[in-house]
Amino acid sequence: MTAHRLPTAGPLALNPPPLEHGGRLREAAARYRIPFQDWLDLSTGINPDGWPVPEVPGAAWARLPEEDDGLEETAARCYGVPALLPVAGSQAAIQTLPELRVPGRVGVPAVGYQEHAQAWQRAGHTLAPLADGVPGGDRGAGLDDLDVLVVINPNNPTGRRWPVSTLLDWHARLAARGGWLLVDEAFMDTTPRHSLAPYTDRQGLIVLRSLGKFYGLAGVRVGFVLGTADLREALRSRLGPWALSGPARHVARLALSDSPWQEATRASLRRASVRLAALLSDYGLVPTGGTDLFQWICTAEAPAIQDRLARQGIWVRRFDAPASLRFGLPGAEAGWARLESGLRCLASDVPGDGPGDVLRQTAGATAGIRPFSSVAPPLAPAPVPVPGDPR
Ligand SMILES: Cc1ncc(COP(=O)(O)O)c(C=O)c1O
Repeated sequence: MTAHRLPTAGPLALNPPPLEHGGRLREAAARYRIPFQDWLDLSTGINPDGWPVPEVPGAAWARLPEEDDGLEETAARCYGVPALLPVAGSQAAIQTLPELRVPGRVGVPAVGYQEHAQAWQRAGHTLAPLADGVPGGDRGAGLDDLDVLVVINPNNPTGRRWPVSTLLDWHARLAARGGWLLVDEAFMDTTPRHSLAPYTDRQGLIVLRSLGKFYGLAGVRVGFVLGTADLREALRSRLGPWALSGPARHVARLALSDSPWQEATRASLRRASVRLAALLSDYGLVPTGGTDLFQWICTAEAPAIQDRLARQGIWVRRFDAPASLRFGLPGAEAGWARLESGLRCLASDVPGDGPGDVLRQTAGATAGIRPFSSVAPPLAPAPVPVPGDPR
């Protein structure tokens, strides 16, 4: 990771450059000269039919937020824990948690949301990138060599998921030496039965939840930290007062108490993800993995496919290591039709080095890749650094 110094000489610390994320549609719009509003943005794993936000009362804007508004209780009930700490997006916790420990060795998934790795490294810890996020896996550090293990469950973008029993076993081994297991459950709301939330009264087990993905409320910047009281207090004191705005607290409380919406949304996201996997497969893009909010496809043709779809105003997230694409859900029927016509356009292009050829090669290339099953799939072949970051 190359650090760069700001042009002003002086006491500023060295800062790593910002990571690349999905959802940077304005950049794509400028690059491809297609107006912003004309794009179909599939570059994130955010629910396109998010929780419908009602009007926010004036007092939420005007008054300093207070902690007796019921948010903590509602969120705790929703996640099935006695207490938790609200934060301004789980990203706020990802950045701050590493400052709460003396430098140590931290296992991070080689392929996964790279903000974790960057934050631990910035706080002076030594990174141990783990192939497929598994300690002791191919060429990776073993659990007993680590002070902290970061697991993204399910992982973004691979979709890999770990059984609760495996994670509890890893946690027990780390905690016995004063270590931490940090589980990022940003994509867990579609399958809450796999959550480690009920175990977060155990020392050294920390779970992060987010309102950004399932609720489709990425802009409101709300997340939660589930962990022991001492850990929550240490983090709260680092983050300072009013970590969440009044409007964010208001919206989050209502969304988290809307269980009919949550249940209906789990079912509709499941249907949409099956539909997306089938549609992509029909055009030779067989998913390597995924969740109910996105599908991930390993293909050497990722740059060409991203480019050709972008020329049609369809924006998907590309990764370079391994070469792959992530497709979010299209949302409205018009979006599905547009994606299908974009894929058809790729497939029907003239043979040679045109896009049709790209899809035909991809169909062949992905045929040999075993798709991940939902729990404990096989290890990926090698640890590979991800230069960008899979939001
Ligand atoms: C795996 C994962 N964790 C955490 C985050 C941060 O989410 P937020 O800060 O919106 O809660 C993201 C965002 O893309 C993510 O993909």
